[in-house]
Amino acid sequence: MARVTPTNSTHTPAVARAATRTDAPAICDLWQQLWHEHEAIGGYAATRDPEAYVSLTQRIENELVRRAGSAVGGRHIHLVASCDKRVVGQIEAWLEQLGVFVGAAPTVTCELRSLIVAPHARGAGTGKALVEKAAQVASHLLQGVPILLAAEVLHRNPSIAFYTRLGFAPRSWNAQMPTSIASPLPRSTPFQARQATHRDARALAELHHAFVTRKYAAHDSRFGAPQPVNSALIEHFADAVQHMKTAHDQTRALSTYLVVEHAHAVCAAAHLSVSQLEPPFVPVARAVLSGFSAASAAHAPELFAELMSLGRHIAKLHGAPMMEITDLDAPNQPIFQAALQLGAQPWSLTMLRER
Ligand SMILES: CC(C)(COP(=O)(O)OP(=O)(O)OC[C@H]1O[C@@H](n2cnc3c(N)ncnc32)[C@H](O)[C@@H]1OP(=O)(O)O)[C@@H](O)C(=O)NCCC(=O)NCCS
Repeated sequence: MARVTPTNSTHTPAVARAATRTDAPAICDLWQQLWHEHEAIGGYAATRDPEAYVSLTQRIENELVRRAGSAVGGRHIHLVASCDKRVVGQIEAWLEQLGVFVGAAPTVTCELRSLIVAPHARGAGTGKALVEKAAQVASHLLQGVPILLAAEVLHRNPSIAFYTRLGFAPRSWNAQMPTSIASPLPRSTPFQARQATHRDARALAELHHAFVTRKYAAHDSRFGAPQPVNSALIEHFADAVQHMKTAHDQTRALSTYLVVEHAHAVCAAAHLSVSQLEPPFVPVARAVLSGFSAASAAHAPELFAELMSLGRHIAKLHGAPMMEITDLDAPNQPIFQAALQLGAQPWSLTMLRER
């Protein structure tokens, strides 16, 4: 992997600071550059319509006016790097609670997104300055609550080496498959995949516990430490199933749990969501199958295959051309291998670092 060398090492070092309203056009240009670079290595396609970028610049500016010079708006952090009064880089970060924390202290994940340094300014410490400043702002905001920094990186992106250099490590893997692909596996298995109902709440809570335990053991602590399965957790899933969104509502979003049964016992689960990518990405339905968990490792690949097959079918019905499969174990593990056998391709990885 090529190491980046600065094209102009006589630069004054760039300074990372809060984005302000006059930065909006430069931020929009950097985003465009980022999306084109990402699209070339398998990321979402961005529109080429110049009008979309005019309204995007306006949207960014409106938001920055609201923030009045603060780096923070709600749970969103927005910074730029400036050098000789010119914006040469930018980063966003979102503070998220990804796990289910009933009666337990939550783990906060600071998800770094849309990091980019202008090509002419790369290799001079600007990317690092942006990441460290975002981490610092997040820590300050949360006043001592432990933070996990996360970055999702396309698996063909050379910036994996950048994050590694900054102390991040890959902890979770994601794959992607066309929904039109025919499942190459025989369909005669004793397992039956279906959408979950409120009667599955206990099974969902137990499978969630198994999922968190597996992720925690693999140093992916975004979902917190394993908590006991208690009535509060079961109630949480009963509520979640009750309030699942169907694609018939106005948001055109779908959020549903899928389970696999064998002999009337639920033995695996995953979550499927279908939402709409917003312009300036080419607006298309985006399907994500996440959080796969099986009661026992013995049949995990077959159970996973059932869920992938049902997920793909539902995603296709809702117009998604691709289905992303997230929260996978490392590529040499059986679940990732099962995903590849079913026609998925490696897509991205989630890299983590404790603050
Ligand atoms: C990734 C990116 C932000 C790095 O910014 P940068 O300003 O060039 O990085 P820095 O100069 O701060 O590099 C910090 C360290 O990482 C190393 N590094 C940076 N890019 C690297 C690469 N492609 N390969 C190997 N090492 C790299 C640097 O050599 C430096 O190491 P050092 O501390 O030993 O000197 C920049 O290359 C970029 O904008 N890429 C395109 C957009 C992108 O993919 N963003 C990531 C989104 S997930």
